[in-house]
Amino acid sequence: LSLRGSTLILVGPGRAGSALARSWNAAGGRLRAVVARTPASAEAAGLRLGAEASLPVEGAAGLEADVLVLAVPDDAIEAVAFSLAGRVSTRWVFHLSGALEAGVLEPFRKTGAAIGSLHPLAPFTGKEGETWRGAFIAVEADGDAAAEGERLARELGGRGHRIGASGKPLYHAAATLAAGGTAALLAIATKLWQNAGLPEAEARGALSLLSRRAAEAVGSMPFAEALTGPIARRDVGTLRAHTKALRENPEAAALYAALAEETLRQTPGRGSEEAIRRLLRHEDGGPDPEDAAEG
Ligand SMILES: NC(=O)c1ccc[n+]([C@@H]2O[C@H](COP(=O)([O-])OP(=O)(O)OC[C@H]3O[C@@H](n4cnc5c(N)ncnc54)[C@H](OP(=O)(O)O)[C@@H]3O)[C@@H](O)[C@H]2O)c1
Repeated sequence: LSLRGSTLILVGPGRAGSALARSWNAAGGRLRAVVARTPASAEAAGLRLGAEASLPVEGAAGLEADVLVLAVPDDAIEAVAFSLAGRVSTRWVFHLSGALEAGVLEPFRKTGAAIGSLHPLAPFTGKEGETWRGAFIAVEADGDAAAEGERLARELGGRGHRIGASGKPLYHAAATLAAGGTAALLAIATKLWQNAGLPEAEARGALSLLSRRAAEAVGSMPFAEALTGPIARRDVGTLRAHTKALRENPEAAALYAALAEETLRQTPGRGSEEAIRRLLRHEDGGPDPEDAAEG
């Protein structure tokens, strides 16, 4: 199997689309045309990506290719599909949104094309040289288009995995939690370090490295083994010090408690679960937090 000789029309040669085009070229496919909003932006991207033609959306009539990919921003997909369907000729049409269903490409289905979506789970920043190689790719489509989407994912060097349309918002919400959520969690942890007197730059560097190592452990072993720290160890005395330190910061305390609860669920049978839960609910009956004499 190979993309050798297969033709692609790429609509929206931005961050995700450019990375796709590089993988398409690398797999031996032909980049039949690059389509953008203006002739100038299409031309620049076409030169950069080695396209056979570069056109604005209005000038795309009559184009033919095996595959058309709409790599425009999510909010533009429906309108661009409406504008291009019937004016270009293609067998397969995919968009790249992780949240929207393939059904937004309905205008193309009406013209006889098979529709689907391919969502590469990767942060494309627009840097020269980015590709889809090695990415997890969520493939959502019916029938033939699903098999074609999986084939494309494989040929582009990614790991295609089928997902149902109704599962997409949850899939995408989870990805947002894992990526942006981790960054936001690090922002909160950084503020706590600053409250403890450490400089922000130091905090960002050291905490992100710590976080990366913890994430790497999750990628290579089961959660019960990857989870470290006082909750996984059931170090109740340390936990008491943490909950006390977080009293002034209810937002961080609530997050700490929610994540601690998941840590308990993933590390069952180690004891002290109820004591820890009481502590997190501030019902531990331990030393009075107001007691200034406490050491
Ligand atoms: N970036 C990522 O990390 C990433 C990862 C996975 C999936 N995705 C998905 O990929 C899609 C594109 O996202 P992106 O981050 O690559 O966006 P982007 O960098 O902003 O690129 C969007 C491209 O679409 C063109 N465009 C914008 N509006 C258009 C319109 N109305 N008609 C035709 N072309 C239009 C833009 O070019 P002109 O302005 O020159 O027209 C640009 O080439 C989205 O569905 C997104 O969810 C992105």
